[in-house]
Amino acid sequence: MAFKQQESWKNEIEKRRTFAIISHPDAGKTTLTEKFLLYGGAINLAGSVKGKKTAKHAVSDWMEIEKQRGISVTSSVLQFNYGGFCINILDTPGHQDFSEDTYRTLMAADSAVMVIDASKGVEAQTIKLFKVCLLRQIPIFTFVNKMDRDANDPFDLMDEIESVLGIATCPVNWPIGSGREFKGVYERDRKCITTFTAAMNGQREVDTKEVDLNDPQVNWLIGEGYHSQLLEDIELLDGAGQELDMELVRQGKLSPVFFGSALTNFGVETFLKHFLKMTTPPLPRKADIGIIDPVSPDFSAFVFKIQANMNKAHRDRIAFMRICSGKFEAGMEVNHIQGGRKVKLSQPQQLMAQERKIVEEAYAGDIIGVFDPGIFSIGDTLTSSGQKFAYEGIPTFAPEHFARLRQMDTMKRKQFLKGVNQIAQEGAIQIFQEFNTGMEEIIVGVVGVLQFDVLLFRLNNEYNVEVKLDPLPYEHIRWIANKDGLDVEKIQGTSDMKRVKDLKGNPLLLFINSWSMGMVLDRNPGLVLEEFSRN
Ligand code: G4P
Repeated sequence: MAFKQQESWKNEIEKRRTFAIISHPDAGKTTLTEKFLLYGGAINLAGSVKGKKTAKHAVSDWMEIEKQRGISVTSSVLQFNYGGFCINILDTPGHQDFSEDTYRTLMAADSAVMVIDASKGVEAQTIKLFKVCLLRQIPIFTFVNKMDRDANDPFDLMDEIESVLGIATCPVNWPIGSGREFKGVYERDRKCITTFTAAMNGQREVDTKEVDLNDPQVNWLIGEGYHSQLLEDIELLDGAGQELDMELVRQGKLSPVFFGSALTNFGVETFLKHFLKMTTPPLPRKADIGIIDPVSPDFSAFVFKIQANMNKAHRDRIAFMRICSGKFEAGMEVNHIQGGRKVKLSQPQQLMAQERKIVEEAYAGDIIGVFDPGIFSIGDTLTSSGQKFAYEGIPTFAPEHFARLRQMDTMKRKQFLKGVNQIAQEGAIQIFQEFNTGMEEIIVGVVGVLQFDVLLFRLNNEYNVEVKLDPLPYEHIRWIANKDGLDVEKIQGTSDMKRVKDLKGNPLLLFINSWSMGMVLDRNPGLVLEEFSRN
């Protein structure tokens, strides 16, 4: 390969930053994402982005925006350029569409931004998503949002993050007041104050003022009371706080924390700048032959999400893959490792879920969507010819909602089984059977309840079978980590515990509540239960 050409793809890969935003619904993920795009020059929203209605409107407008500005927008990834970086924001579906895909998306990210509502602290969905980030050991950056509203004490918030999530924190800036009394933030690295002035929604340039901490203006700018409080806080932070050790950040053991207000666009650009400086280009990934360097000429990728088309007119599926090394070029022939054959990625390569768009080239760190005639599975590896290896698989995560699946028309048993298995294989649902019986009873587990509706709709629409779901009261399912040499039948259970197995025959236990799970662990010393399965 010519030297110049090689330099160019190297540069392209090194400027990639691929991350996911995790949060509990309503913490401000959409708003923050919009502001990021604003800085990337991707959208130019005149006036303000006030409420959800406007926000959602903006989301649906992204298609149009993409055409106008040449950015790539999809339900799966947003790509834009800022400050010499090419940024990929992976969408982690939330709200009603929270599903296993939300977890899987995190498998494709190199870091995560955790948005926390300053008045609510660490919430349920954040905890779930955080656990997946921990599993990956990726850097996690915290944005404490909505400081323009009455917020919890910042020290309490930090304590909560540390105690609930078990990650150390290091504030990069520090808030002065909150709500109507939000005066701004103290930038710890530069020892200066950025003041906050309300009512500047949506503007690119926020009307802020930056003054040195020692400037005599500080006293009247933030008020005497806040000034002395700030000096006390700084002493406490500098004295007892954790230093910003970048090695710990990279290992996902320390989270840099930023305070701001996405809605009023305060602290967003500062965050973005620090974040881009602190994050790394695409990370090397583990494969069965060792670690694969992203900055290598050889293309490789893995499938992390398969999206079935619910529209009958377009039965095809889209396999979303994360490029892990090298450069992708439209039409290239690659090895599909798990399928054991070569495939030509010449079908419409798209970054868009709704709109077809051919991608001519993409680099390590990018996400591409590829037409899938039904050959790919979650976790599959693709490599450029000559290279043969498989990336570490994507774990299966514990579903939280369960139902018994009943087929209404027993004549269509074959269709029914085909449909259920196919949908399970795509990763939209998980199916379980009684531990020691045949295929008679099928228990379906999903991470988000919407998947139940999707299942019913698809079985009916695509496979022409009518089924009924009888909800089951279980809330927890666990794989048995030390299953080898263990007699599952002999586990001392509680009256409500159920033994099941997954499609691969792995034994699992179902529990109604965490108390029951605790009891079983107490009664069976040595039993190791896991929230995810790697095989
Ligand atoms: P999400 O994607 O995490 O679910 O949150 P989203 O950005 O949609 O924000 C949820 C609500 O919080 C939105 O209000 C949004 O305008 C508001 N919000 C986001 N960031 C901030 C912030 O920094 N300060 C304040 N004060 N509000 C913020 P909404 O949908 O209009 O809800 P509502 O408040 O009208 O009920």
